Amino acid sequence: MAESSRLNPAIWPANASQWEKSGELTIGGIKSSQLVADFGTPAFILDEADFRARAIKFRDAMHKFFGENAHVYYASKAFTSIATSKWLAADGLSIDVCTGGELAVALAAKFPPSRIEVHGNNKSLEEIEEAIKVGVRFIVADSLIELDRINSIAGKLGKRQSILLRLTPGISAHTHESIATAHEDVKFGFSIASGAAMLAAVTAINAANIKLEGVHCHIGSQIFDDASFILAIERLVKFIADLKKSHGIELDHLDFGGGFGISYVDGDDPMDVELVLEKIHHALVTQCAKFEINIPAIAIEPGRAIVGPSMVTLYQIGTVKDVVLEDGKTRTYISVDGGMSDNIRPSLYGAQYSAVLANRISSAPLTSSRLVGKHCETGDIIIRDIALPSDLVPGDVLAIPATGAYGRSLASNYNHILRPPVIAVRDGAAKIIIRREKISDLLALEEG
Ligand code: LLP
Repeated sequence: MAESSRLNPAIWPANASQWEKSGELTIGGIKSSQLVADFGTPAFILDEADFRARAIKFRDAMHKFFGENAHVYYASKAFTSIATSKWLAADGLSIDVCTGGELAVALAAKFPPSRIEVHGNNKSLEEIEEAIKVGVRFIVADSLIELDRINSIAGKLGKRQSILLRLTPGISAHTHESIATAHEDVKFGFSIASGAAMLAAVTAINAANIKLEGVHCHIGSQIFDDASFILAIERLVKFIADLKKSHGIELDHLDFGGGFGISYVDGDDPMDVELVLEKIHHALVTQCAKFEINIPAIAIEPGRAIVGPSMVTLYQIGTVKDVVLEDGKTRTYISVDGGMSDNIRPSLYGAQYSAVLANRISSAPLTSSRLVGKHCETGDIIIRDIALPSDLVPGDVLAIPATGAYGRSLASNYNHILRPPVIAVRDGAAKIIIRREKISDLLALEEG
């Protein structure tokens, strides 16, 4: 049977397709009707092969341009689980965590601590101690208070902890304000421009139980322009050179974080990863030559660009209602069985998504619709404006692509909704990697 190519490959997982005749969406070789019958809705469906291929693509591209010393730290915050951590371990990636919780998941997956990096602007003493005890590769230090804490906890444990310094290169990357992280007025890191970064470097160098190995920055998330990355590299290299000049110490690690943008809707035009890395490599080589320093080992921390496009959310429609607007036009409100508790991104960042009818074909005319959740809040909108078939009925299944990043990981229990499961699919087999929450999970926290 011929498959249609009506799904935009820039938005959907590689192994998703929609059958020409029935209109049924298939992911990882499994029909959505089967997934709905077996696992219910809402559910996150993760295309394992797609996730792993994207991770491997980053790994290989980094090795190609920056050599075998280059590392890809997958950003757990985008989505983490024991299963995905095991895949990343097997596929030779590293992991970044920013809390004890994310570290616990990586360790539960037996992820090698020597390939884990720890972030956070306010790590607790317990988080720092655990990280040092298990032997993580780097703690990325974010403040002078934290340098002091790392030094004293490492000393108490009889260890010398390798660190990177999180620097603020003073760049306004073009993205949503809440996810830009490297301009000056921000809570993260040490400012290069103000001199705070140099002071932190000297403090770290003088700390007996700290081994300062390099610098780090993260300029923001969902970035579409490579100029910001290149500027960040140039400023970090200059900082390494300035430190060498003033203190005779040459740092040999440079991690420029994550942030690679992805497509959510038709027309989004993210950068090609290989192309950006090639340009960054060029900028790095030029800048290192200019300032006469060795080329440092390079690391990146993509989250969204690996897991984002590899997941799809399946919802079932519960109600359909026509609302007459002030201008006399009609808008169809389509309510699904999830909403802002499994995808807060539209309300938090004005993020846009697309949707398809996943369980059948419809030749009904398209009508101006709004896709909303089931929460008691007007802002509980998944897609503000979308043209959907006018014959949608309760029980129809809608699939929203590109929900892998910051979907399940930002999920909440608002209105005591149960967080959806994550189902990994591959070659016609499905596996629950995070089960659906139960009412008993919620009640288990109650002390009554
Ligand atoms: N490294 C660091 C230090 C980060 O803070 C982040 C994201 C990443 C790496 C991964 O960035 P990515 O490659 O995924 O863009 N909740 C927001 C995104 C917040 C990003 C926070 N930091 C959203 O849903 O758009």
